[in-house]
Amino acid sequence: MAADMSSPTPSPAPLLEVRDLCVSFPSGGRMIPIVEHVSFTLGEREILGLVGESGSGKSVTAMAVMGLIDSPGVCITGSALFRGQELVGLAPARMRRLRGRQIAMIFQDPMTAFTPVYTIGWQIDEQIRAHERITRRQARARTVRLLGEMGVPDPERTANRYPHQLSGGLRQRAMIAMALSCNPALLIADEPTTALDVTVQAQILELVRSLRATHGSSVLMITHDMGVVAETCDSTLVLYSGRVAETGPTDVLFAHPGHPYTAALLASIPPLDGPRPERLPTIAGTPPAPLERPVGCAFGPRCAYVHERCRITPPPLVPVGPAQEAACVLPTEGRPLPPRNMAIATHGAPA
Ligand SMILES: Nc1ncnc2c1ncn2[C@@H]1O[C@H](COP(=O)(O)OP(=O)(O)O)[C@@H](O)[C@H]1O
Ligand code: SF4
Ligand SMILES: [Mg+2]
Repeated sequence: MAADMSSPTPSPAPLLEVRDLCVSFPSGGRMIPIVEHVSFTLGEREILGLVGESGSGKSVTAMAVMGLIDSPGVCITGSALFRGQELVGLAPARMRRLRGRQIAMIFQDPMTAFTPVYTIGWQIDEQIRAHERITRRQARARTVRLLGEMGVPDPERTANRYPHQLSGGLRQRAMIAMALSCNPALLIADEPTTALDVTVQAQILELVRSLRATHGSSVLMITHDMGVVAETCDSTLVLYSGRVAETGPTDVLFAHPGHPYTAALLASIPPLDGPRPERLPTIAGTPPAPLERPVGCAFGPRCAYVHERCRITPPPLVPVGPAQEAACVLPTEGRPLPPRNMAIATHGAPA
């Protein structure tokens, strides 16, 4: 269960550099902070996992970077540099040109990418032709080749089928083919395997892993599942209630989590070998609603290590290992970090 160690070292100039990203939405006459001061970098040909429970702000972070939030009154601050170009505040027309050509996104449900009324081949052809002046015949040749590369059997015939005629796994492959049709440098994959059974999930993850070699792509992999992170990601960013809890190389973070929340997420991965426990440990409670975040550490109400200092102010990210940072007071107090796979399913366990 380790990320692909044969991956190239990310280049020093990042493909995407997100700094201090904040997103808030208006509600009931006030602004609700959903994403707060999120920073990360994604190198060329790197796969970065954005992980956290449902509602932690993963999709909002990605949609903000992609310029896809159009809710009235939304406030997005901070910076997202893509190859040096600022995406925050970019004019919608310029953002649209970047999307599809340089940055593409895939979702949990491929039916959000395909319309039911045209064949998948026709839709991929059109996507290619929207960005490049090539003939329909040339576009179809590229579509068929891409579908084949994505592991779609008999791609020529499959291209002539309608989305509902394909299995979930095949639809997901077709969506990845469409996303890659213009060779984007960055692919954002938002829970791409959540709706699939485990065998198909493993195949799709293998496909995503191979994209850096076949297409030179970097991937931002959004998931609630640490198992998916372990299978695919070079580095990991753990979000909790809209804030970064921990970030670092996946192998380091998995071996020595620096934040009790990361440790709890790791404890909820099903074991790969040995007997499967009847119930996996889960983290008791739920993340706080954005307006109900405690004054200090947002994880405090669920943390077995919580103490007075945690309740003063949100803990800043501090270094806890090589290229690893955690937003927790334990490291600054010289206290031991949570052991790997520590189950914190109960409150009040002694630190
Ligand atoms: N357009 C919006 N307006 C107001 N609140 C939103 C909007 N989109 C998402 N949210 C809220 O932001 C929070 C984070 O959502 P999301 O990013 O979808 O979480 P995740 O992808 O991690 O499951 C949720 O509480 C959600 O209700
Ligand atoms: S700061 Fe305190 S409450 Fe938050 S994770 Fe660390 S020990 Fe737990
Ligand atoms: Mg989401």
